[in-house]
Amino acid sequence: MKTVLITGCSSGYGLETARHFHARGWNVIATMRTPREDVLPRSERVRVLALDVTQPASIAAALAASGPIDVLVNNAGIGALGAFEATPMAVAREVFETNTFGVMAMTQAVLPQLRARRSGVVVNVTSSVTLAPMPLVAVYTASKTAIEGFTASLALELEAFDVRVKLVEPGYGPTTRFTSNTGPRNDGRIPEAYAPFAQRVFAAFTQPAAVTTESDVAEAVYLAATDASGQLRFPAGPDAVALARQSESRA
Ligand SMILES: NC(=O)c1ccc[n+]([C@@H]2O[C@H](COP(=O)([O-])OP(=O)(O)OC[C@H]3O[C@@H](n4cnc5c(N)ncnc54)[C@H](OP(=O)(O)O)[C@@H]3O)[C@@H](O)[C@H]2O)c1
Repeated sequence: MKTVLITGCSSGYGLETARHFHARGWNVIATMRTPREDVLPRSERVRVLALDVTQPASIAAALAASGPIDVLVNNAGIGALGAFEATPMAVAREVFETNTFGVMAMTQAVLPQLRARRSGVVVNVTSSVTLAPMPLVAVYTASKTAIEGFTASLALELEAFDVRVKLVEPGYGPTTRFTSNTGPRNDGRIPEAYAPFAQRVFAAFTQPAAVTTESDVAEAVYLAATDASGQLRFPAGPDAVALARQSESRA
């Protein structure tokens, strides 16, 4: 029986991904900053562990408690919305600490065991903002685009050890806690000069042509984790799939 460790399982895509792997018979280590067992099925195959991906001691403690794992899913992430000009560098650093350095730190911490066993998969959850640029999310896009490049390079480096590294690129998911969790970072980030433009952008957000569900992402992560081909990118959700097709046809 295989074991998956998933970051950011308290809500949204991570929570549904934990349920999805459990339903397929996996051992699931669902990690959360604030552990809550009641959101997941009661099962011998589910363990909830505390993990903050920005804290080295927390990473070490979670991996010591988890035992050997076959798949790491780096799902934890935070957003930031607003004009770049009005985004303090402290906010940019905060976003990178979780979305970029958190992913790198988690990956580095599990690699020795995967390399030694010559098997295993790391799945990094980025975003469809890496497929087509969107305004007012420059810092967030930068944090996720860094992981796209990081993952593509690492996949080549680990090929010789039979360790696979994959990307899942979810589209816009209005039903997760992402927007409300992002809220406090956005206060005061639309200066007067940007207001008319921002209003048009936000109006488009409220009428999306297609959106991504938690299940879309859980299925894509499962596909990526079990994929034996060399496929690197797995867009998740109809909006992300459409953007991926457009970016392929431009290439
Ligand atoms: N929803 C979207 O529109 C969308 C689109 C594309 C990509 N994504 C990406 O998908 C992933 C999941 O997002 P979601 O939509 O499911 O949002 P969500 O409901 O806000 O879930 C994010 C999860 O990440 C956790 N987290 C935040 N900072 C963390 C840290 N330092 N250490 C460990 N866990 C941390 C949160 O935990 P707490 O409960 O403790 O805050 C939460 O469990 C993120 O990487 C996000 O960037 C989301």
